[in-house]
Amino acid sequence: MQVAVIGAGYVGLVTAAGLASLGHQVALAEADASRLLALESGEVPIYENGLVELVKWGRDAGRLTYHASNPEAVKGAELVLLCLPTPAGVDGRADLSYVRGVIDELALALDPKARFVIKSTVPPGTAVELNKRLANLGSDAAVISHPEFLREGSAVHDFLHPDRIVIGAHDEADVKAVASLYDSLATEMIATDPTSAEMVKYASNSYLAARLTFANTLANLCEAVGADIVDVLDGVGLDHRIGPHFLKPGPGYGGSCFPKDTLALIGVAEDAGYDFRLLKAVIDADDEQRRRVADKVKLAAGGGLRGRKVAVWGVAFKAGTDDVRESPASRIARLLVSDGADVVAYDPEGRDPDLRHVDSALEAVEGADVLLVATEWPEFSRVDLTEVARRMRGYRVVDARNLLDPRLVRKAGLDYLGLGRPKA
Ligand code: UGA
Repeated sequence: MQVAVIGAGYVGLVTAAGLASLGHQVALAEADASRLLALESGEVPIYENGLVELVKWGRDAGRLTYHASNPEAVKGAELVLLCLPTPAGVDGRADLSYVRGVIDELALALDPKARFVIKSTVPPGTAVELNKRLANLGSDAAVISHPEFLREGSAVHDFLHPDRIVIGAHDEADVKAVASLYDSLATEMIATDPTSAEMVKYASNSYLAARLTFANTLANLCEAVGADIVDVLDGVGLDHRIGPHFLKPGPGYGGSCFPKDTLALIGVAEDAGYDFRLLKAVIDADDEQRRRVADKVKLAAGGGLRGRKVAVWGVAFKAGTDDVRESPASRIARLLVSDGADVVAYDPEGRDPDLRHVDSALEAVEGADVLLVATEWPEFSRVDLTEVARRMRGYRVVDARNLLDPRLVRKAGLDYLGLGRPKA
């Protein structure tokens, strides 16, 4: 099928290259001239496992073309997938100006019978609103909701092996048109109305954020009563109604989605006259988690951070990505700086321009009073801990990801402070 993808961000680029690999002819439009130039010169401006190969394959096969102009990209397309940012706007509500702007621009440029497909995360009711907007502009193009569930770091894998495909449309033919994109993938498909499809996305992200926050706050309680969160969650996760996934305690959730989507859903609820207190409590507890980790480092440094050197392993919001947007790791590192610490960071991929970075994990611990493990990069668990102990001035390790083996850390002569783990 001939499709257009508008927006070459994480979602757009992965979706475009993924659809090309499934045999579709994809025209990808990008408004940012320098990003487009990078793409055209063969670069892939995102660190994402397998994406370089997928993009190259699409380009070499002539199935993936790049365009500066949206109207040019949609020529001949049966489906126009909008993969545009919906950042947090006023009061945390999703800012739909990019989506509305492109709808306005393309309303009369689409081929007859072409359909809009909304991949961006948008509040429930948006597809219906966009349909009315199109009607006012003289277009009867359908607007189908088709939310995206890709995770950064494993987006290509997630595209090719989705847990489910959700399509929200009122018309059977619209559902079929979108479903036919994935004929070659064996996966569950949910067809529903557009507003419910939009809600699936917010509900999934908010549930995951709440589940994770439950694990984080339970870790705090385990610490207080002397239980080991790792064993506790192993026991909890074996209940098949609960399952083991997404229960790893950490410094709080980050990235471009959870913080934005949880806030947006509270806005949606408020607008609908519902006080979503449970989700508000999740956001509060998540905020507190960063401060708790920073306080743990402070305590490990002897109660104050002025004149103390803290090595921070990891600034990316999670392992497997270079993304530092809303990263708890870099938020905590900044909190430490504002508390007076001399912070030296190392991350294999991520860079926070406001922090001092070095080129290796061992370089970071040179003369450090405390080591903070803030992102769960596997390479951190392979660092020679005896060498870490030799290079550090202090001896305390705060592991905000429960990544290291406490026995090995202690064997190296260091003090281990995890999240929700018993002392020695
Ligand atoms: C999330 C969702 O998982 C995707 O399904 C969704 O498509 C995406 O948002 C989006 O809306 O675009 P992502 O932001 O890439 O994906 O990150 P996750 O892997 O879900 O992690 C979110 C946060 O939770 C990270 O800060 C991560 O470190 C944290 N986390 C996750 C934990 O601390 N422990 C866990 O066990 C799992």
